[in-house]
Amino acid sequence: MANSASGDSMTERIVRVLETFTSERTVQTTAEIGRRAELPSSSAHRIVDELVRAGLLERDEDHRIRLGLRLWELALRGSTALRLRQAALPHMESVQAAVREHTQLAVLEQDEALFLERLSHPQAGANITRVAGRLPLHASSSGLVLLAHAPLALRERVLAGPLRALARETITDAAVLRRRIADVRREGFVVAPGSIEQVSTGVAVPIRDAGEVVAALSVVLPRETPPGPALAALKQAASAIEAALRADRR
Ligand code: PHB
Repeated sequence: MANSASGDSMTERIVRVLETFTSERTVQTTAEIGRRAELPSSSAHRIVDELVRAGLLERDEDHRIRLGLRLWELALRGSTALRLRQAALPHMESVQAAVREHTQLAVLEQDEALFLERLSHPQAGANITRVAGRLPLHASSSGLVLLAHAPLALRERVLAGPLRALARETITDAAVLRRRIADVRREGFVVAPGSIEQVSTGVAVPIRDAGEVVAALSVVLPRETPPGPALAALKQAASAIEAALRADRR
């Protein structure tokens, strides 16, 4: 692929353009994209125009740019995330109906927990997770499940820090986190009060496919709610999702 004067390839520049979009920043002008992707204005306009023509970006009547639906379509096609989400969804609905709080499905992605799905309830409490949003592994209940079962090199990388505090009770001490990881591996679940927000408790369990932990299923409870019933519902759903994934392999 042809390189620009600055030496970066066209693929790298396209990736930088796409990565300027975040869950908080979903709409931008081409000039903003160019500035954030550190591209000369002419390159930014050319790349954005080409991506709009290909449907990977969309331009509205005010000439503002957002990620294109085609990108979502291509990304989901045959992806393992879609298979997991489809296997999980009916059982997430059961958890959500029983617990009446937010229910999430997360996977490990580049040293963070990436949320594939979230079901909410009209009366559910606070929750900062977003579909296609991320949370740090050491802080969220889902993240702690995924971290505890991650490859050793990744675990050590996270333990080496920095372990940023999201709330007063986030684990920021590597020795404490190491003990917590051992507990999660032994007990098979996480109850994390106040780790993300003082007002809530994250409860999460692992989901295995072919013997490997591939996802975490979690609920976010108001801090005063006892976690027992949610944990029981999560464990039951995790077994059912694992059975669905097994059936899907046959
Ligand atoms: C958690 O998984 O621990 C968690 C996630 C989102 C929140 C609170 C807790 O808002």
